[in-house]
Amino acid sequence: MNETSKIQKLNEIKAQSRLGGGQARIDAHHKKGRLTARERLDLLLDRGSFREVDPFVVHRTSDFGLDEQKIVSDSVVVGWGTIDKRLVYVYSQDFTVFGGSLGEVHAEKICKIMDMAMKNGAPVIGLNDSGGARIQEGVVALGGYADIFLRNTLASGVVPQISAIMGPCAGGAVYSPALTDFIFMTRNTSYMFVTGPDVVKTVTHEEVTQEELGGAGVHSEKSGVCHVAADSEADTLYLIRKLMGYLPQNNMEDPPPAPTAVRDDPLRMDEALNALVPDDPNKPYDIKEAIRMIVDNGVFFEIHENYAANIVVGFARLGGQSVGIVANQPAVLAGVLDIDASEKGARFVRFCDSFNIPIITFEDVPGFLPGTFQEHHGIIRSGAKLLYAYCEATVPKLTVITRKAYGGAYCVMSSKHIRGDLNLAWPSAEIAVMGPDGAVNIIFRKELEKAGDPVQRKAELVAEYKEKFANPYVAASRGYVDDVIEPKETRPRLINALAMLSNKRDKNPAKKHGNIPL
Ligand code: HXC
Repeated sequence: MNETSKIQKLNEIKAQSRLGGGQARIDAHHKKGRLTARERLDLLLDRGSFREVDPFVVHRTSDFGLDEQKIVSDSVVVGWGTIDKRLVYVYSQDFTVFGGSLGEVHAEKICKIMDMAMKNGAPVIGLNDSGGARIQEGVVALGGYADIFLRNTLASGVVPQISAIMGPCAGGAVYSPALTDFIFMTRNTSYMFVTGPDVVKTVTHEEVTQEELGGAGVHSEKSGVCHVAADSEADTLYLIRKLMGYLPQNNMEDPPPAPTAVRDDPLRMDEALNALVPDDPNKPYDIKEAIRMIVDNGVFFEIHENYAANIVVGFARLGGQSVGIVANQPAVLAGVLDIDASEKGARFVRFCDSFNIPIITFEDVPGFLPGTFQEHHGIIRSGAKLLYAYCEATVPKLTVITRKAYGGAYCVMSSKHIRGDLNLAWPSAEIAVMGPDGAVNIIFRKELEKAGDPVQRKAELVAEYKEKFANPYVAASRGYVDDVIEPKETRPRLINALAMLSNKRDKNPAKKHGNIPL
């Protein structure tokens, strides 16, 4: 064979490898409105940046006639590329080859790029579209999953790991995405389940709906497994690109600054902020309005938007610097902390702390949600998760109390006592053990029983209590808040504080690891 024909042969094999399970299966896949593994990588990565490895790797199994299908590449495409010129490692499961199922070499390919990502300090993005463990390969497939799970765990907190679910993600396969930092799902075409619907049987689209199977709706609203749900595959990949802009390459780096062209005036003050909090403390307002007025260009990348909406978390920029925002949402359940909100907040705080992203907390919280449901389902344990996460975080922590900071929730939400670096309050802040009504009922119970006109007396006592406690000045007089500011000053004050904290050094005692109350 001469050189020309050798090169011809190489190109033929590569062309065949790029076709995965063949044109007929690609056409069938397209007919379902879905993109192929390679088309997805083209949308995810900068144009022309993808470099594939292991295009020739193919399974070694002959059981159950697996060798009869003439494929030259196994069911996952792996390699690296760039997003906005920054290196990322990627894998993309190819549903046209054995339904994207994971066997021995499929796992080896993923492990190879995960090892490279760890060695070279860059994020891993996995695009999942798979029927799960390759049934014909038996325990070898299960072992392959376990090899990936170990790497997911060891990489946690070292390099960001992002998963996109673009099709089925079934059985134990869900645990690789579940171990990563963020899960994106495509609405209507993706689903995740461990055991499936209540009646465990062969799952077909006729028998159960996507939602029952564990679609993007269920996981982004009820289970909280999905962090971002997108309407199409293209949107899913676009949103991953956007998220990456807020993240560092690894735990030893800071997140990248925004390009100077898109910077917003750091001294900008929005007058509307001064009028945002209603005079009536029981009236809601939307904390996301405040966030948008304060952050650069009003851009807020929300995580878990439709899950536990009584707390808001997500990424933004302040003075060009990436920050993580955690905010109680008075517009939903008055902003109380419940089990789901506590876990959502805790996980986000820990992500930010792992990857050197300062945490900005906006606090308006009437306390923990009362009631037996919450108690019996473990609000004690869940609230402790959020508390633990804030306590252990050593990144810059800035807190703005916009209105209520009541009870244990005052301590939890990045208070000065748990190493808040700069704690500011708006004049509307009310910092106390509990709200005026509840407090008066308890401490003046006997007096109210004896009063000639209990309604009138209660109103007087509530007014007294409010005068004494429902303001930020008691806390400010003790230095528990560092300053009371006009709401419109919040943006310049936060940006100034981030600059002041840019060389912050803080650490926790040496230990193997703490024991967060899981
Ligand atoms: C081998 C598989 C496969 C699998 C699908 N295929 N899943 N081959 N192992 N796990 C093959 C099919 O045989 C078919 O091949 C091709 O992929 C396309 O599958 P279809 O069924 O035609 O596609 P569709 O109708 O879209 O249905 C997709 C599906 C279904 C819902 C994912 O294939 C399915 O239910 N698969 C099994 C899911 C599952 O239970 N997996 C095991 C989970 S347990 P041909 O040649 O006929 O086109 C698990 C344990 C992991 O994963 C544990 C880790 C700890």
